[in-house]
Amino acid sequence: MNAIAPALAAIKAPPLCELHDIRKEYVLRRGLLERFTRPERRVAAVDGVSLAIPQGRIFGLVGESGCGKSTLGQIMVRLIEPTSGTLLYRGNDVSRLPPEERHSFRHRVQMVFQDTSSSLNPRKRIRRALGEAIRAREVSNGIKTPVVQAEMTELMRQVGLDVALLGRFPHELSGGQRQRIGIARALAMKPELLIADEPVSSLDVSLQGQIINLLQDLNDRLNLTIVLVSHDLAVVARICAEIAVMKEGKIVEQGPPRTVLGAPSHAYTRTLLSSIPRGLVGRSRYR
Ligand SMILES: Nc1ncnc2c1ncn2[C@@H]1O[C@H](COP(=O)(O)OP(=O)(O)O)[C@@H](O)[C@H]1O
Ligand SMILES: [Mg+2]
Repeated sequence: MNAIAPALAAIKAPPLCELHDIRKEYVLRRGLLERFTRPERRVAAVDGVSLAIPQGRIFGLVGESGCGKSTLGQIMVRLIEPTSGTLLYRGNDVSRLPPEERHSFRHRVQMVFQDTSSSLNPRKRIRRALGEAIRAREVSNGIKTPVVQAEMTELMRQVGLDVALLGRFPHELSGGQRQRIGIARALAMKPELLIADEPVSSLDVSLQGQIINLLQDLNDRLNLTIVLVSHDLAVVARICAEIAVMKEGKIVEQGPPRTVLGAPSHAYTRTLLSSIPRGLVGRSRYR
């Protein structure tokens, strides 16, 4: 097999997840008096987004704070319902899945959050958090007495943590370790698609690189499709095969990093780009 065969295969692979003209409106909160004096106002957090997430790649979603990235990410895992538009997973409309397939969709698409301290239950040891995730998956697959210990050990290995940490509480871990646990818990569901919403924003720069490397490693080894959501174009440019730039609820630019970074057509992308130290831009694995 020649060197370009995998790249060609990836281009030809049907998208894992497709968004068609997705829109999400929020009703703005009004004060008590305003409720009588002002008409209801709506804001479109996501405003007609169409995207195809190719299977087996890392797809970057980048844009300034408030542009709608988290809303879009949560729509992809169906934590929130879009106001309009269609979400397809493996070609099937997710809103019309029969109940049993809806269940398996919930497992196959997982999310990792920015805030590691609030996404893990502070009163549960790591062992319990991971064990419950594994059990939930097994039970829904019809397995009555799941064996979790060996799998927990394997999950810890996959995310580069010592098994001794299983006995700790979340607050006894560092931010970087907590984020690895967040990723392990998502992996416990054996996902095909991982939405990582600002997974490194709360971490020191030195740790950011390690978590990004871990995501790249999971993509390589498990062929896990990842949507990496970030306000930081440098982070996204490093490991993403394709980048979509979002502004005020819309996708304003999309393409491989060398196109988006090398010749950004949109002024907004150039602004995002100008905040990156030069050395980092050249580090993309796809350039
Ligand atoms: N639950 C909500 N209710 C009302 N407005 C919201 C809600 N969630 C997000 N928004 C608004 O939608 C816009 C997009 O938010 P968000 O998706 O969190 O952006 P990002 O993740 O890019 O920072 C923002 O203007 C935000 O204030
Ligand atoms: Mg966000």
